[in-house]
Amino acid sequence: MSTKREELLSRIYEIIKISTIPSILKKIMEVTEDSNSSVSELERVIEHDQSIAARVVGISNSVYYGFPRKINSISQAILVLGFEMVKGLAISTAVFDVFDREKRPHIVSLWRHSFEVAMGSVLLAEKTGCVSRDSAFLAGLLHDIGRPILYQIFGRQYLEVIGCDVHSLLSVEEETFGAAHPEAGSWFADRCKLPESCVNSIRFHHNPEIYLSSVKTGKPSCLVPMVYLADLVISEGNDCSGQFTIISPRHSDILRAANVDHAVLDDVKDTVKKMSVQLEGYFEY
Ligand SMILES: [Fe+2]
Ligand SMILES: [Fe+2]
Repeated sequence: MSTKREELLSRIYEIIKISTIPSILKKIMEVTEDSNSSVSELERVIEHDQSIAARVVGISNSVYYGFPRKINSISQAILVLGFEMVKGLAISTAVFDVFDREKRPHIVSLWRHSFEVAMGSVLLAEKTGCVSRDSAFLAGLLHDIGRPILYQIFGRQYLEVIGCDVHSLLSVEEETFGAAHPEAGSWFADRCKLPESCVNSIRFHHNPEIYLSSVKTGKPSCLVPMVYLADLVISEGNDCSGQFTIISPRHSDILRAANVDHAVLDDVKDTVKKMSVQLEGYFEY
């Protein structure tokens, strides 16, 4: 491992260990990891952190869950979202909160993108039935978590490398910081003891074929190609997408591994875009 890489790894571990990840997050993780925990225990932890509480209640009210009545308490929200989703929201809120006020457009667009990919992953999970909605939501929401982490560590220097072309972004990140955002994010997720399929979905969200060919025994997790496809269809139409196409030999293997076809992807993209319009405002705080 090169020095730059080692240094980045230890700085990411440091983030988890000390101040930046608030102690409330540790408590949420303890409660959600303990299968004997009740909704009221998690509620007690969340009510102490306003920004996590607001996000959990706000998201549970999103049109996606289509509840006829408004959710206005943390306990109702936990019941609607489930422990895994609450955990994902708490982790991402804690990490995204490091963006300073001045950089609000970055956090708002990254939040929106992450949430859209989470919704896209859930829709794919529902259509294929090969992973749970909870796992799909968590992995989709956290797939780009390496970006705010690198920003937290490198500040302005990280903003300077954020370009449009994702392929050169990955090599520039690796050269400059010691690892690209998917790997940095996967180190973080692994250290936070998130499930292995979630860690792999973060790590390989720009190149699931590497993951698929690395699995020698057993069946590869369909979550990895699924999060990749959700990210791909949702990013398309944004300014950097010109060069992507899902109609290629490379993508037919990925589509097969995720158990989806083009029609499903088109459908997911349209549905997420419609939902996203109605979620306007949830990402600003
Ligand atoms: Fe990414
Ligand atoms: Fe992404």
